[in-house]
Amino acid sequence: MSSRGSWSSKIGFILAGAGSAVGLGAIWRFPYMTGENGGAVFVLIYLACCFLIGYPVMLAELSLGRHSGKNPVGMFRQLASGGNLLWKAVGGLCVTSGLVIFAWYSVIAGWVVGYLFKTLEGTFNTTLSPAVIDDIFANFVRNPLLVMLLHALIIGATAFVLTGGVKGGIEMLSKWLMPLLFFLLVILAIRSVTLDGAMEGIRFYLYPDLSKITGIVVLKAMGQALFSLSLGMGTMITYGSYLSKKENIPSSAMWVTIFAVGVSLLAGFVILPAVAALGGSFTEGPDLIFKVIPSIFSLMPGGYFFGVGFFLLLIIAALTSTVSIMEVPVAYFVDERKWPRKRAVLLVTLIAWLIGTPAALSQGASSFLTDLPGISSSFFDVISTLFGDISLSIGAFFIALFIAWKWDLSLAVEEMRHEGKFEIEKAWRFCIKFVSPVIILVIFLFTLWSNFLS
Ligand code: TRP
Repeated sequence: MSSRGSWSSKIGFILAGAGSAVGLGAIWRFPYMTGENGGAVFVLIYLACCFLIGYPVMLAELSLGRHSGKNPVGMFRQLASGGNLLWKAVGGLCVTSGLVIFAWYSVIAGWVVGYLFKTLEGTFNTTLSPAVIDDIFANFVRNPLLVMLLHALIIGATAFVLTGGVKGGIEMLSKWLMPLLFFLLVILAIRSVTLDGAMEGIRFYLYPDLSKITGIVVLKAMGQALFSLSLGMGTMITYGSYLSKKENIPSSAMWVTIFAVGVSLLAGFVILPAVAALGGSFTEGPDLIFKVIPSIFSLMPGGYFFGVGFFLLLIIAALTSTVSIMEVPVAYFVDERKWPRKRAVLLVTLIAWLIGTPAALSQGASSFLTDLPGISSSFFDVISTLFGDISLSIGAFFIALFIAWKWDLSLAVEEMRHEGKFEIEKAWRFCIKFVSPVIILVIFLFTLWSNFLS
């Protein structure tokens, strides 16, 4: 295992794990998903899923990864003792999800780079009307060459981080930069909630309207919980494989969960009150933060510097996440196919480029991809739901079943013990055997029933 490398200390893993978890999922995806899916009810279901499914599954992934020292495919092969087709398929789903999520996630990270340049140019220096800000965004995403270039830049940068041996450097850097990002979000949240008319947004965010619960809302809240914690596709299995035996899995995982959930909730306080104050629409979709954040900056003293700082830090946060997503397919090719690392990175980059390019063009640059015939959704939204929410839920379901019913739960508990103790052993056993898989199953059935059968 030493030849594959490992984290140097507990703080090393918490950093890498939190670096993976905290990213665009919290700051870009959580606010717009909350806006699209009914506000406070979505937040409540999200929180419940984080702690009833997310945290238990994170413990499962980390201990499976550490015990086997492998990527998801290799882990299932080793611990399921042999070529059981079901577990092969689940491992394959993990690697596939990694490829597709990496592809579309990088599109948004590319937008952030574009917005960093816009801010640097001083585009948002004067107070702009929402209509002008909308135009700036529309013109930006409609420029095919630019969005393709920015997307390629992000996958290229991620590939460089994975092969260039600078991964540790990026993680150490984020140790100093992420608290700064958090601090900036706090300032932004204060500006946002004190805007005239913010109250309606705060109410939308905090007072649940139970009539908004539908199957899709519940499914997406569960998907978002897994997404924001980097679960359901083997990131934490792969990261666990680099974890040393000395480390305390339950406490490290709790820190990672708290960081990711905390940043998500904070990002909601930045975006949703401002949406209401600026007269925008909660259901704007993936464009939301790119329309709201520049407006907030244009309404605050020193907005230029805050703006530059924000987009810069968000790029770093996104890169520590893209690295962790790309790591899964790369580890698969290196461990299972015995490929040299460089070749694996090259192939994954190429696939991500092929899948990501239509996603990048599906926000206005190509009208066909923006409004797919028959489903009136963009290519981007389709792959984000399929390989963001649904595949992660299926992955988490089978990972829970695997550790609880197929592998040996007492071996898993051994992995969790730290200096002889695992305080929440009973609760975790109960969750991973019954609570987590049953909730996932019930949510799937509810969604099917309420959206397709009734
Ligand atoms: N959690 C990250 C974010 O919120 C994205 C991410 C990294 C991810 N690794 C993952 C999402 C694995 C799903 C699965 O930005």
